[in-house]
Amino acid sequence: MRSLCILPGHISLFACTAVAAALLLGTVSSQASENDPWASPPSSAESTSFADQREAVIWRQNTFDESKSLLRQLRFDIVNQRDLSAAEPRIESLRQMLSADKMLPAFIEGSHGSGSDARPEIWEEWDRYRSGFDQLDTDIATLQEAVSNEDLRAAAKGLSVVGESCKSCHRGYRY
Ligand code: HEC
Repeated sequence: MRSLCILPGHISLFACTAVAAALLLGTVSSQASENDPWASPPSSAESTSFADQREAVIWRQNTFDESKSLLRQLRFDIVNQRDLSAAEPRIESLRQMLSADKMLPAFIEGSHGSGSDARPEIWEEWDRYRSGFDQLDTDIATLQEAVSNEDLRAAAKGLSVVGESCKSCHRGYRY
């Protein structure tokens, strides 16, 4: 690389810049993976806080079940009671509960099969699967915005969009 950079002329200057840019990009992307520990699925329970795959499966199923009750409760708050102040803390819990950082470690590679409704495509299409949690987070943020604006109509709409986000992932990745 050094020899490229000391050669005179336009081409070498270009090459030198390109090499420097590539190095810079390399640094940026390795930093990104440090901030993004689940860019690839955990290959075993060892890299997670779970004792084994079974524990991870049970934990994620329980967490999804809790999120379903929260969603039902939110429908009651927003649609039936029209009480946005009750909804606010529940939306925050839902957002934290199903964040990508929380959920992805529970999807240890190959943890489908008996006792789980997860489809193996999760690990074949990891980036696409992950983006489902990002989409959900975006939709919950939109709902939060509607609630903080005290906009009941937008909140009801936001809630149904959140529900669609859940279903859209289930269609592709849950039996
Ligand atoms: C990015 C994908 C994804 C998103 C988003 C998602 N889910 Fe799921 N969900 C799954 C997968 C995969 C399973 C199957 C887990 C298993 O059995 O191992 C599941 C399972 C469930 C279950 C069954 C749990 C059990 O006891 O077996 C419920 C209930 C559920 N999800 C509710 C929700 C709700 C409510 C939302 C939205 C607020 C949601 N999910 C968003 C992927 C997703």
